[in-house]
Amino acid sequence: MQEQIASLKAEISAQIAAADTITALEDVRVATLGKKGSVSGLMKNLGGMSPDERKVMGPALNGLKTEVANELAARKDVLESAELEARLAEERVDVTLPVLDHPQGSIHPVSQVMDEIAEIFANLGFDVAEGPDIESDFHNFTALNIPEEHPARQDHDTFYLKPDADGNRKVLRTHTSPVQIRTMLSKQPPIRIIAPGRTYRSDSDATHTPMFHQVEGLVIDKDTHLGHLKGTLEAFLKAFFEVDAVTLRLRPSYFPFTEPSMEVDVQCSFEGGSVKIGDGNDWLEILGSGMVNPRVLENCDLDPTVYQGFAFGCGIDRLAMLKYGMNDLRAFFDGDLRWLRHYGFRALDLPTLAGGLSR
Ligand code: PHE
Repeated sequence: MQEQIASLKAEISAQIAAADTITALEDVRVATLGKKGSVSGLMKNLGGMSPDERKVMGPALNGLKTEVANELAARKDVLESAELEARLAEERVDVTLPVLDHPQGSIHPVSQVMDEIAEIFANLGFDVAEGPDIESDFHNFTALNIPEEHPARQDHDTFYLKPDADGNRKVLRTHTSPVQIRTMLSKQPPIRIIAPGRTYRSDSDATHTPMFHQVEGLVIDKDTHLGHLKGTLEAFLKAFFEVDAVTLRLRPSYFPFTEPSMEVDVQCSFEGGSVKIGDGNDWLEILGSGMVNPRVLENCDLDPTVYQGFAFGCGIDRLAMLKYGMNDLRAFFDGDLRWLRHYGFRALDLPTLAGGLSR
């Protein structure tokens, strides 16, 4: 009997060593320690033995059972860590590899349009400037020739923050124009910048959201004139809408920070239910602009007898709606993945003029 146990032990050890998967090892366990297994079978025989036999065989069989269980457990450890190693090796991701044909994310239309605008203006020699969303009253209004009692303050539906100890209230900037001020205060001309970013007004319907996006443009030099403004806007809109030509209409308007001021319309057609920019019988108002008011230059310590310039401000969300055919601005900020995927642009695919902006 002792010999039988020894040879069974040797046989089982060999099987355990030979099992090269968790499943194969489990088969060995069932065949030995399972209810109908070989070791369990021997244990059952204990009942039919004489007390003396049992005294010897009991510990021997229990010893066999324990050894087999230990060997199974040890082998299981080895196989499990080998399996984990293999999986890690197989599922390893090299994050330094370029994303090929299966990017997971997509670019929000607002980001796409901002990138397109930056690309167009970079080609015209403009830098991208930035300013804070929480702005001082001075930068957002006063320096832009909108003093406290000015009616234009009411037009802006401003979000005010709680006043500080000195009674100064910060605002959520109502336009990107304060970046004009920050740029002129920190840089000497010639200045050529665009400033894309978030803007805020207390307003909400299909074409207005309390947070929206604008891009500001500012050029200051010694001999800048209205022709430069018109030429720049034409070059921008032609490139942005990816058409061969655009016709612009400059309508006299009023902004406290520009003089003269004009609203710019682009010729378009609404035939067939969608807007076509470039030609047609209709006009679409697209941005506000003008020559920088001499008082604004003075507020920024620039001599208006030496320097002039132009500025413009344009709603980015509206540009995106026009170019990509969206009709409800609120969808921009719902965060609905289906909408994002529908309009979403390929991640890491930066627009270039040479490659075609939107492709
Ligand atoms: N800041 C103006 C607006 O938000 C737009 C504008 C910018 C007009 C620059 C003229 C010059 O309506």
